[in-house]
Amino acid sequence: MNEKYYLLNDIREIVNNLKKYHKNFFGKKFLITGANGFLGKYFIKVILEINKKTKQKIKVLAIDIKFDNCEIYKDKNVKKLKKDVNKIDKLNFKCDYILHAAGIPSPKNYYKKPIEAIFTSITSTKNLLEYSKKTNSKFIFFSSSEIYGNPDKKNIPTKENYNGNVSSIEDRSCYDEGKRVGETLCYFYKIKQKVKCSIFRPFNVFGPGMPKNDYRVFPRFFNSIKKKQPITIFKSGKQTRTFCYVTDAITAMFLVTIIGKKFVYNIGNDKPELNMKKLHQLMQKSLNKKIKSINIKYPNNYPQVEPQRRCPDITKLKKEFNFKNKVTIMESIKRFHHWSSRYY
Ligand SMILES: NC(=O)c1ccc[n+]([C@@H]2O[C@H](COP(=O)([O-])OP(=O)(O)OC[C@H]3O[C@@H](n4cnc5c(N)ncnc54)[C@H](O)[C@@H]3O)[C@@H](O)[C@H]2O)c1
Repeated sequence: MNEKYYLLNDIREIVNNLKKYHKNFFGKKFLITGANGFLGKYFIKVILEINKKTKQKIKVLAIDIKFDNCEIYKDKNVKKLKKDVNKIDKLNFKCDYILHAAGIPSPKNYYKKPIEAIFTSITSTKNLLEYSKKTNSKFIFFSSSEIYGNPDKKNIPTKENYNGNVSSIEDRSCYDEGKRVGETLCYFYKIKQKVKCSIFRPFNVFGPGMPKNDYRVFPRFFNSIKKKQPITIFKSGKQTRTFCYVTDAITAMFLVTIIGKKFVYNIGNDKPELNMKKLHQLMQKSLNKKIKSINIKYPNNYPQVEPQRRCPDITKLKKEFNFKNKVTIMESIKRFHHWSSRYY
């Protein structure tokens, strides 16, 4: 078993979390964009494990601009389509769910390709919403916690009804504003065209499978550990995040997709809110070893601004699905370390 892209135990954990709802998957077809990405692979692998466990043939159309040789694309229930999502015209796949996960979420990558980042959230979203209308399928848009921008103190934890504090002309604006327009498209297709639709706003989801050059915090820190170099903390390290391990995030995302009734959902963990210094301390404690750190300026190829605090209010998930984050930060650090020490 190749665990380069996910840990099999993590996949089994998600399948088990969803046990009560396996029947809701039976006979369904999923169109997944960004299918070669970090989250896309988990969706497909979980569906294939449910197939295996329940002897079903749930089908997936996997769309991405590039594919690696992960085993999931060889499964007979998965059809692979190598295509730029902005150039999708005709599709011939009668689906029940469209999970539009294609995007450019890594700050280093969208800073390199800002125009592509904007339109990947807009052009493809419009075209796929049209396809959703045509096929009467439920559309899921992968937005981001970044649409909240830099919330003030009284909006932390951040609720879904917070309008945000976002600049239209900063280094991060291409990602934030693109996702905001994507959401607006969903809103109008939902109210005017009656398309079934929900929006995810993920907050720092991480886990095995994130490429070492991704530049989000966990891959960056653990890549340094693997290379026996100090981890690098941008500026003072006072900026905060709450981290959500991928098994909990994928569980929540499937619950919303299959049985969710509401329009917008924060996806994440509401505690602990950690600054980067504290995260560094917890990593040392969890791994029981000394990890050196240095504070540096933002690199030149990286957005020069970032939100100071990030912490979701996840009351909606808790109330509607009785959802709880099961994997603690200490446990998730151990799992990420276990995986990255083998595959970085
Ligand atoms: N992981 C998180 O914490 C997080 C947080 C907020 C939002 N999101 C959103 O969730 C989605 C999935 O995130 P991820 O972490 O898996 O990202 P990822 O970068 O690992 O995967 C994105 C995938 O989209 C594909 N893609 C990009 N542009 C494309 C195009 N024009 N045509 C076809 N494919 C294209 C990429 O090739 C990649 O495989 C993204 O839309 C992202 O913005 C993720």
